[in-house]
Amino acid sequence: MWDDLKAHHARTGHRRFETLFDDQRAEDFSVRVDDMLFDYSKTNIDAEARALLIGLLDMAKVAERREAMFTGVAINETEGRAVLHTALRNLDGGPVKVGGQDVMPEVLVTLKRMETFAEKVRSGAFKGQGGAITDVINIGIGGSDLGPAMAVRALSPYHDGPRCHFVSNVDPGDIADVLRRCDPATTLVIVASKTFTTIETMTNAHTARAWMSEAVKDPAAQFVALSTSKSKTDAFGIPAERVFGFADWVGGRYSVWGPIGLSLMIAIGADAFRAFLRGGQEMDRHFRAADWHENMPALLALVGIWHAQVCGYATRAVLPYDNRLGRLPAYLQQLEMESNGKRVSMDGADLTVQSGPIVWGEPGTNGQHAFYQLIHQGTRIVPCEFMIAARGHEDELHHQQQLLIANCLAQSEALMQGRRLAVARAMMEKAGFEGEELERQARHRVFEGNRPSTTLAYPRLDPFTLGQIIALYEHRVFVEGAILGINSFDQWGVELGKELATALQPIVEGKKPATGKDGSTAGLIDYLQRHGA
Ligand code: F6P
Repeated sequence: MWDDLKAHHARTGHRRFETLFDDQRAEDFSVRVDDMLFDYSKTNIDAEARALLIGLLDMAKVAERREAMFTGVAINETEGRAVLHTALRNLDGGPVKVGGQDVMPEVLVTLKRMETFAEKVRSGAFKGQGGAITDVINIGIGGSDLGPAMAVRALSPYHDGPRCHFVSNVDPGDIADVLRRCDPATTLVIVASKTFTTIETMTNAHTARAWMSEAVKDPAAQFVALSTSKSKTDAFGIPAERVFGFADWVGGRYSVWGPIGLSLMIAIGADAFRAFLRGGQEMDRHFRAADWHENMPALLALVGIWHAQVCGYATRAVLPYDNRLGRLPAYLQQLEMESNGKRVSMDGADLTVQSGPIVWGEPGTNGQHAFYQLIHQGTRIVPCEFMIAARGHEDELHHQQQLLIANCLAQSEALMQGRRLAVARAMMEKAGFEGEELERQARHRVFEGNRPSTTLAYPRLDPFTLGQIIALYEHRVFVEGAILGINSFDQWGVELGKELATALQPIVEGKKPATGKDGSTAGLIDYLQRHGA
């Protein structure tokens, strides 16, 4: 199948895909879920390529793997765990069993506990030692930070609870800048860590507790823990009534739907949080039931496979024309790159195709004035994934939303059409150039075009829609991983750096010599010690 796809690409790769457009293409190469539209017609995928790509789904038994995921089979084989973040948003979907036990009662009890607590914080019934809570600080990193931080920003029009801050980096500047803005007597600190061992998070949690203990009698009373490790949250001194636990079948980067989303729930309230979950659940239902031809996550994944593994494009840009999705590219970097950045398949054999691509991006229109130059005229092809809402939240600024939409559509059009040399020449002639100078100037103004992009359009970025978008991308990652035959749910690649950092700390502190370190590392330690004294 891979060979057929590569042969098809070799045959068709140089054609201009704008010539594929007839009356039907936009309709045939787009898919809807509710009011959401995913258009992948501005790519070089034709009916034959799509059929071959869908063949990959069958070859990789994606339907069986999908069922295995939803039904609690331990598909995370290197850690022996089920993968059930979908259970966290399974509000009315019936039992989900892991090892014969229905996990839903506990999921729903925890959700209820979160709601009760969040409402108490929001109403002022839960108080800090100086009065009602004005500020919430979520201390976590990776999946324990990016999900809630991204979603709180995305849903700012719905934010009517206390201010939320996010501290993730062990860099002292991160926590210092947040603590400076908060009053310890009215601040709630949420320590979010699945393992409750992550060095950055635990270091920041201790710093926050020291800061709070200077101002209030009982700092632990203003701490909350979100974790799978009850013994560790006990040891930290956070009482059980403010510990919100979850099971090991919730991966860190898939955890925003459960307790790790507590800061989001405090920000937007329980009803809006439930709408977010319902959006995710709706996408799950679609993903599980729709034919591959109509299946949005599967088609998004196949476009990804086409560009990364068949065409060989190394990166993809996520370009939300929705400023409140400013943290989405960072969120997707973890979701996609931690999941599918693997060099071996499930059985330990080397991959024979490339692993997942490098994901990056920024909201439009800002990116247009920064890196789009390379996207339009650089020698590398960067498939672009645009996102755009039909409506913003600022009805009085509707004209700005229209301008945003025009910019988004203009970019995908420009990427496809480009500007031919003859047109550039005519432009330069009109501007008064002639001869060699005309030719030179014209060549700088040529856009090759024929550069692929997709567009995800939705009515408005509300909690339900955000839930749909996040679940859409989660399932996309799942499908791509299944096609590549890898385990998308472990992350061994982050371990080596952690081990070396632990070993280096006493050397950096001058408590141990740098014996055995390579010349570069030893030299850098020496420089940093001399200049850090
Ligand atoms: O180091 C990577 C990682 O394990 C991520 O997968 C995870 O989201 C993050 O660290 C934080 O882990 P924890 O929630 O256990 O603190």
